[in-house]
Amino acid sequence: MTTLPKTIGIMKIAVFSTCNYDQEFLEKYNTSHQLVFFEQTLNLDSAPMAQGFQAVCLFVNDRADAEVLSSLAEYGIKVILLRCAGFNNVDLDFAEEVGIKILRVPAYSPEAVAEHTLAMMLTLNRKTHKAYNRVREGNFSLESLMGFNMHGAKVALIGTGNIGKALYKILKGFGCRISAYDPYPDAELVADGLEYMDLREALSDAEMVSLHCPLTDESFHMINENTLKYFTKGAMLINTSRGALVDTAAVINSLKSGQLGYLGLDVYEQEAALFFQDLSGEVIQDDLIARLISFPNVLITSHQGFFTREAMQQIAETTFLNADAFVAGKNMINEIKP
Ligand code: NAI
Repeated sequence: MTTLPKTIGIMKIAVFSTCNYDQEFLEKYNTSHQLVFFEQTLNLDSAPMAQGFQAVCLFVNDRADAEVLSSLAEYGIKVILLRCAGFNNVDLDFAEEVGIKILRVPAYSPEAVAEHTLAMMLTLNRKTHKAYNRVREGNFSLESLMGFNMHGAKVALIGTGNIGKALYKILKGFGCRISAYDPYPDAELVADGLEYMDLREALSDAEMVSLHCPLTDESFHMINENTLKYFTKGAMLINTSRGALVDTAAVINSLKSGQLGYLGLDVYEQEAALFFQDLSGEVIQDDLIARLISFPNVLITSHQGFFTREAMQQIAETTFLNADAFVAGKNMINEIKP
């Protein structure tokens, strides 16, 4: 276990979107800040809860757009500690304008997300989720459980940063034939023999496509009605990156026509209203996710790719390293600027 230096100053930090496990890990690795935990996600309604604090600690579905940031600035918030890598939920330009620093956890166990991606691929392929239920009901038939060998299967990785690279190494071990699309090819992977292609070529050459790029204006709905036409008929799409990379209505149509053969989602465009909550006693109002859940060849998990002990520890440790660097006025290596 890493030993962390004790802090030089204490901040009062409002932690939004807290689940039990967040509280457990943040308390365990807290250097010496005063933490107040809120279950609520940060939005315009909940922003007043940040009054009296110097920092807010946010997760993937907290909103830090211009409206929320103006309120935070008014309450004297000086720094946002993101306990995630993605920052598509933060208006960086506006944050700079109102003098709020943004610090994130750039990489926390990329293997955690890569391994979850693999779990989704194998589950969809070998239908272990169905086999589990069948056998529990005394049904030992193999009808409709046939899968395909991962060995020799063609996989396209869209984005080969930390997570894409970790998945590349795993899939290479399986004997998959891997290609990739990334505007910035990784020299180490090129030297290892990975072939980079343009997006269209990568999509049309694969039986499995896995998305590992950030959500930006450019990548918004990169999987849409048009790009789905490039897919090999019956191919598998996995998205463990950000929901809005995929146009949900378009993938539903593609699944209905059989063009898309399997879909694995750990992220969903409208996940903020659903994920991380127990809604089992309620009527789901989101018709798109309800339709997705009804397909036999769709697997949805609730943004749990990151969720391992090792990643939780790294998130907590880096969050406090960031907080300490801010308080000490040190070089903030994990600061994100516009
Ligand atoms: P990274 O920053 O290390 O790598 C991203 C890669 O995507 C870079 O190589 C970049 O050149 C490439 N890229 C940028 N725009 C692209 C585009 N339009 N098309 C193809 N490639 C593009 O990020 P990392 O750590 O690998 O994470 C990837 C994504 O995974 C994050 O942006 C985040 O949204 C998501 N994530 C999901 C988690 C989960 O629990 N499901 C946990 C952590 C991250």
